[in-house]
Amino acid sequence: MAYYSGDLIEEVISQNDIVEVISEYVVLKKSGRNYMGLCPFHREKTPSFCVSMDKQIFKCFGCSEGGNVISFIMKIENIDFWDAVEMLAERANIDTSRFEVKDYYNKSNSKNNDLKDAVFNINKEVAKFYHNNLIELLKEKTNPVKDYIIKRKLDIKTINKFGIGYATGKIPLYDYLIKLNYTKEEILASGIIVENSNGKMYDRFYSRIIFPIFDIRDRVIAFGGRAFSQKVLDKTIPKYVNSPENDIYHKGKTLYLMNFAKREKIDNIIIVEGYMDAIALQKFGFTNAVASLGTALTENQARLIKKYTDKVIIGYDQDGAGQAATMRGLDILVNHGLNVKVLKLDHDDVKDPDEYLNKYGAERLKKCIENAISLVEFKVSILEKDLDLENFDSKVKFLTGVSNILSKIDNNIERDMYIDKISKKYGMSPGPILKEVERGISKKSNNDIIIDMQSLNKKMQLVTNVRKRQEQYIVALLLSKKPSIQQEIVKNIKSSDIDNEDVKKIFDFILSLMDNYDINKIDILSKIQDEDMVKEITDIMYIDISGYEEKLLQDVLKNKRKEKLYARRDEILKRLDQNISKDESEIIKYELNQIVIELAKLK
Ligand code: CTP
Ligand code: MN
Repeated sequence: MAYYSGDLIEEVISQNDIVEVISEYVVLKKSGRNYMGLCPFHREKTPSFCVSMDKQIFKCFGCSEGGNVISFIMKIENIDFWDAVEMLAERANIDTSRFEVKDYYNKSNSKNNDLKDAVFNINKEVAKFYHNNLIELLKEKTNPVKDYIIKRKLDIKTINKFGIGYATGKIPLYDYLIKLNYTKEEILASGIIVENSNGKMYDRFYSRIIFPIFDIRDRVIAFGGRAFSQKVLDKTIPKYVNSPENDIYHKGKTLYLMNFAKREKIDNIIIVEGYMDAIALQKFGFTNAVASLGTALTENQARLIKKYTDKVIIGYDQDGAGQAATMRGLDILVNHGLNVKVLKLDHDDVKDPDEYLNKYGAERLKKCIENAISLVEFKVSILEKDLDLENFDSKVKFLTGVSNILSKIDNNIERDMYIDKISKKYGMSPGPILKEVERGISKKSNNDIIIDMQSLNKKMQLVTNVRKRQEQYIVALLLSKKPSIQQEIVKNIKSSDIDNEDVKKIFDFILSLMDNYDINKIDILSKIQDEDMVKEITDIMYIDISGYEEKLLQDVLKNKRKEKLYARRDEILKRLDQNISKDESEIIKYELNQIVIELAKLK
């Protein structure tokens, strides 16, 4: 990537209004001078996420995340500082080339970025390499790879579109990449090559069909490789081998083919388990299909989906395996405000959407998708599967299970609807279900009260921590943009006057910034890399001291004087306890007297 001058940061911040940017991710409601919404970084039911239009910062009072528009984009998109700057520049149509510089802007940061860039490039090279391998093999009359590709009904259009390839593992990729001028460190960081204990370099993918995994910006971030020989059936080798996680590939943040799904205007997203399922769906025109690649869904994936749609259809394998994990993942989706439906295939002789499509076609699958059931119905059907409802004990178990599921629904009408539906479907009277559900709800609201007590305690803690608050005022005054006030603080307060380590760190940092910059003109937040420091400083930025600067300054100076006097008083009292001369005793007693008088005045 290019390197930019720091001016680009200021430009990006001034051209991207934080309220507008965050509104693209979070529903915000105006509340006084701020905007409030549900925090995208932790689960919550009542808003504690606050965006300040005046200060152009955000802060969550629940999880304490905070920062400016760049930090927000970094967090929510899971990208680096400069990637966030580029993204925002693009959003505001800023011509970044005007800001390009030859020198590194930030040496410590860009070393890591260099490595990441190298890995992106290596992945791109290797993807091309694998893809060409496959294309060559397909030109031959026959070979096992080609046979398998044909068997899986992968046509050339699909192979090209998704960059599908083949890894022989026979032409050493390490040497190939070295020739392209990549370093050993970069090559190993990609995870494509593995070094054994003797220092020998091995290809991770050997004799496998390769699926490149992309991020939402179409960059190759990892690979999945499927074996196709008899050995898979014999279970002597794993069916799939995948790239390990590294700085650019995080399994839990990725959805396979999301980069393709997001290109179209989509009403919903279909999430399937496997590479082949997502590919088959896309091939048959379901361009809204993505794959979670065989793992339980994560919060990051839920957030990713939420950016494009709030409707999800789950098309997981029909076998019972892993259903508990699946359910957990689905609850995560629901908790992020997604409407979740579950696809039920209307034939039992196929395992997954890929097999279904190849056997029964797209039209039929479309019907199944239209008939997808709600998550609640799905949960109830799973519950029922293991129980024999003719049996009394099982029936009781079923009733308890159902009420557990239903009592989690917040909407009364929806809940009653389900009670009606389920009682009809399973031939039970709605009364007992309703009673159980109500019991479940009252238990739940007790839990809510406990949680409330906890947050109350937290608030109490805040109140007792007056001392820290006082120290935060010192920093707030430094940030007041009032030169006369700022000078007074610099003149009178030293880092050692501050007890709280977090506040001290910020104080020191701002003083050091003042050596090189006019802090009233720069965006201080974008100079801070450390996340905890960002949290602390946004806390302070939210303290509204305008109009009270003079008074607070006087308080701060008074407190400092008081502390000094108290310290001296204690010293004297200690000294008086010791065996000292009469003269000295007289002198310090006099001093003590003066101190007590001054302290009384200061109160
Ligand atoms: N998976 C994996 N490693 C394995 C098995 C599975 O990483 N040893 C992941 C893959 O992402 C795979 C997904 O889990 O796509 C689903 O697994 P499975 O249903 O077994 O495979 P399919 O996707 O159906 O693959 P295929 O149709 O090629 O058998
Ligand atoms: Mn399959």
